[in-house]
Amino acid sequence: MHNFEFYNPVRIIFGKNSIKKIPNFIDKNFKILLTYGGGSIKENFIYEEVKNTLANYNIVEFGGIEPNPKYETLMKAVKIARNESIDFILAVGGGSVIDGTKFISAAIDFDGDPWDILSRHASVKSAVPFGTILTIAATGSEMNEGAVISCAKTNEKLVFKSEKVFPQFSILDPQTTFTLPKKQTVNGIVDAFIHVLEQYLTKQVNSPLQDKQAEAVLKTIIEESPKVLENPKNYEARANIMWCATNALNRTLGVGVVQDWSTHMIAHELTALFKLDHARALSLILPSLLRIQKEEKADKLYLYGKEIWNLKGTKNTVIKEAINKTEEFFRNMDVKTRISEYDIPQKELQIIPALFKERGIKLGENKDIDAEKIAKILENAY
Ligand code: NZQ
Ligand code: ZN
Repeated sequence: MHNFEFYNPVRIIFGKNSIKKIPNFIDKNFKILLTYGGGSIKENFIYEEVKNTLANYNIVEFGGIEPNPKYETLMKAVKIARNESIDFILAVGGGSVIDGTKFISAAIDFDGDPWDILSRHASVKSAVPFGTILTIAATGSEMNEGAVISCAKTNEKLVFKSEKVFPQFSILDPQTTFTLPKKQTVNGIVDAFIHVLEQYLTKQVNSPLQDKQAEAVLKTIIEESPKVLENPKNYEARANIMWCATNALNRTLGVGVVQDWSTHMIAHELTALFKLDHARALSLILPSLLRIQKEEKADKLYLYGKEIWNLKGTKNTVIKEAINKTEEFFRNMDVKTRISEYDIPQKELQIIPALFKERGIKLGENKDIDAEKIAKILENAY
């Protein structure tokens, strides 16, 4: 196992009706900026419950944070927060609202142009404290310090990380996810599953605990997904999926092991260019990437095939079948795994390897996925 440091200060408040507990965690005198997305919280019980629970607080609202939150939208919130002297932000939504709120919280006090936080990884020295109410089990943003922000002007999707943007608390009430459209439930399942694989399907470093934790999350997702898809109001299954998604990316699975993240990096470009949902872009890249990297990842793919898909046979057969099973798992939930299934002309994909070449970035746990390999991954994924 490699050396590591682990720090995660996020208080998780999990369970039925936990929104009612928020006043225990926000100072009564704080002026709150309430951030949310396109309005789903007004179609279920969430908005009303939040407003009732916080009836005695001074609240300013900022709705309209879109999926794949845009820098341009978020800067409007920054302006409001500055003018209103906001003390605390409450993000109510999924990964997009939470990520957007992380950026808002970092940008409010930022000395300089907040764009630098994204474009140049400028260090964030302070951030306005915030909490979250999660409404979709997917990204793990509710318990980590990362955010992914899109820029409409440059067509980029950029990642930033800072310890200053850990949420102070996250409310996880599985009932909030009952109203998710099937497509979004599935997106969350696929995203969480791939988060685990990005940290698990790399190389052996003698980390049996992390391996078994990763396998536990994967197995639980596989067992619980059909239950939520069959009955979206199955509380127990929603609760299990929600806790899986949080654990998939609260960084515990990644400690001391070698991580990949190349599927995410390539998929972010697909989303930026062709407006695909985050998870729908990941599912196009992962199978192709695993097939191309199967020798580098052989030991872990073999372990994955045996432990997760109960495969038997030679190492090569198990690896081949394990990748097929992964693709089948996605396809069984109506998730596409070929780029050509979308209206995306193959020649337009060329821009992606060119971008990575220009940035001088190589991806993967061995930093061996260069522009040429990215082109091959995209070609095979088509
Ligand atoms: O905007 P509203 O109206 O709320 O609707 C949302 C949105 O349209 C809807 N929704 C959310 N909760 C709902 C609901 N509809 C009905 N009932 C509910 N309870 O679902 C749609 C998608 O929401 P979004 O927040 O975009 O989904 P998700 O949580 O999958 O977040 C995706 C974003 O997170 C980033 C992605 O890149 C993407 O921008 N990621 C963040 C990560 C992180 N911070 O660690 C890691 C991930 O890999 C990922 O990159
Ligand atoms: Zn993801």
